[in-house]
Amino acid sequence: MSTREPILLETQGLVKIFGDRNRGEIRAVDGLDLTVHAGEMVGLVGPDGAGKTTTMRLLCGGLQPTSGKIQVAGYEIPRQVEHAREHIGYLAQRFSLYGDLTITENLEFFGEVFDMPEKEMKARAKELLRFAGLEKFANRPAAALSGGMQKKLGLATALIHSPEVLLLDEPTGAVDPVARQEFWYLLIGLLRGGSAVLVSTPYMDEAMRFNRVVFMEKGKVLLEGTPHELLHRLDDRILELAAEPQTQHEARRIAEFDPDVEDVQAFGDRLHLRVRSLAGPLARLPVVLASGGVALIHLKPVSPTLEDVFMELLDAKQK
Ligand SMILES: Nc1ncnc2c1ncn2[C@@H]1O[C@H](COP(=O)(O)OP(=O)(O)OP(=O)(O)O)[C@@H](O)[C@H]1O
Ligand SMILES: [Mg+2]
Repeated sequence: MSTREPILLETQGLVKIFGDRNRGEIRAVDGLDLTVHAGEMVGLVGPDGAGKTTTMRLLCGGLQPTSGKIQVAGYEIPRQVEHAREHIGYLAQRFSLYGDLTITENLEFFGEVFDMPEKEMKARAKELLRFAGLEKFANRPAAALSGGMQKKLGLATALIHSPEVLLLDEPTGAVDPVARQEFWYLLIGLLRGGSAVLVSTPYMDEAMRFNRVVFMEKGKVLLEGTPHELLHRLDDRILELAAEPQTQHEARRIAEFDPDVEDVQAFGDRLHLRVRSLAGPLARLPVVLASGGVALIHLKPVSPTLEDVFMELLDAKQK
């Protein structure tokens, strides 16, 4: 991705404080600098309460910032929010469809909100339904759709006016893995070449899809980079340990005791050990594990995951 592409979304020193001095303040967004270029899909990744939704709502003008600057599609927010909205598609974390209206009626309703000429809107609605695989259900009330189909319809409504900036707040939350996969294909198919997309997600495995990942915690950016740049931080620092299930608990206890093991995380039936260096634990652990009665299946260096990187960042911050 060329960073020479125009910037379509930018915040500088963005702050949003909820509450007040007497009842207690929450700094939901705390000095956030974000940039998304045309053609980029950026992932906002962070734990519950990190400030992802607040950031999205500030970006689309749904909340007034406490301080800082926001520019979207060349317009200043909140000052020029009316103009900016024509260029923004926003899918809220808890978005609402009109349950009594059919799929087509929902799409047309959102088109009318944007004052789209009828002919253009109808053509666009048709195109989106076809893309989303919802054509067959066009006359079904939205309330009668499955969760995954509702998310697709939500995405379609956010795209009805062909916005060049797309804000998607946990679009695949509470959706099964197959529907999640379909959603990503759909999104990539629908994006116009030069769109700027900001997506929040709690799923680290999804973060590998983004051009750039912004790790956010307590309203601040902890680290950002391409997935590969971020993974690079932990090259030669992760060991995977597999043990017979009945001895895994003991394996974890012993591994945590090793002086070069910084952290142990469970990944399904495997353990990921984050180590200061590979050599020491590789030499010591098989011996200590065996004498502790652990039936080791393997202990080997593996490539880090983004989850490993995020855990390391949070640990480093706490120290
Ligand atoms: N309207 C509000 N009034 C007071 N506090 C709020 C309000 N909205 C959000 N907060 C607080 O701001 C912080 C950030 O919340 P936000 O919803 O932005 O987090 P998030 O990253 O979207 O979390 P999640 O992953 O759970 O959706 C939280 O501590 C939350 O309780
Ligand atoms: Mg949220």
